[in-house]
Amino acid sequence: MLIRECTAADVERVEEAYPTGAHRRHARTVERQQRGECTFLVAWDGEEPLGHGEVMWQGCSTPEVRAAYPECPEINGLRVYRADLRGQGIGTALIRSAEGRARERGFQWIGLGVSDDNPSAARLYERLTYDAGMRYTAVWSSEDDAGVKRVFEDPRTFMVRDLTT
Ligand SMILES: CC(C)(COP(=O)(O)OP(=O)(O)OC[C@H]1O[C@@H](n2cnc3c(N)ncnc32)[C@H](O)[C@@H]1OP(=O)(O)O)[C@@H](O)C(=O)NCCC(=O)NCCS
Repeated sequence: MLIRECTAADVERVEEAYPTGAHRRHARTVERQQRGECTFLVAWDGEEPLGHGEVMWQGCSTPEVRAAYPECPEINGLRVYRADLRGQGIGTALIRSAEGRARERGFQWIGLGVSDDNPSAARLYERLTYDAGMRYTAVWSSEDDAGVKRVFEDPRTFMVRDLTT
């Protein structure tokens, strides 16, 4: 398995593995990466993309979390695409790769938000020595296939890790 930054040339293959349709999420993440806002990490087995995670260099998109944890990039959208490949260390490898990149840039802290309804992911992060920090509600909006805008609210815990320990 190889983990590297996703390029515009990779987007089609990542879209095949994890389709986002009209939202074009992967293409938009690559655009954010080109603007320096994030690093879009994809794990590959040969030509097959296995999963991804995005390091948001400005931190969490929720302002109160950013205020409480300044200088703390966030690992966002972590996902192993195929359910049959979960539990084999790919998610851990993506997290370790994100941590290494944050360390290289001189950050002491890295964080991630975990939904209340995802206790198995929270257990993984605890095992990787992330500590539960503040609770918050992530709010975002998205258009459905009929073009109707919907607002989503997701209660989460921001978990943080000291990269120097
Ligand atoms: C969470 C996720 C990214 C972890 O990646 P992974 O490659 O499965 O994780 P690893 O193999 O490195 O670590 C395994 C641990 O992940 C946790 N985990 C969370 N969701 C899991 C799932 N659906 N299947 C297997 N393990 C899962 C378990 O605690 C597991 O530990 P265990 O083997 O002791 O039960 C992946 O399971 C996934 O894509 N889940 C669906 C999307 C998601 O929940 N993303 C997290 C958003 S915060």
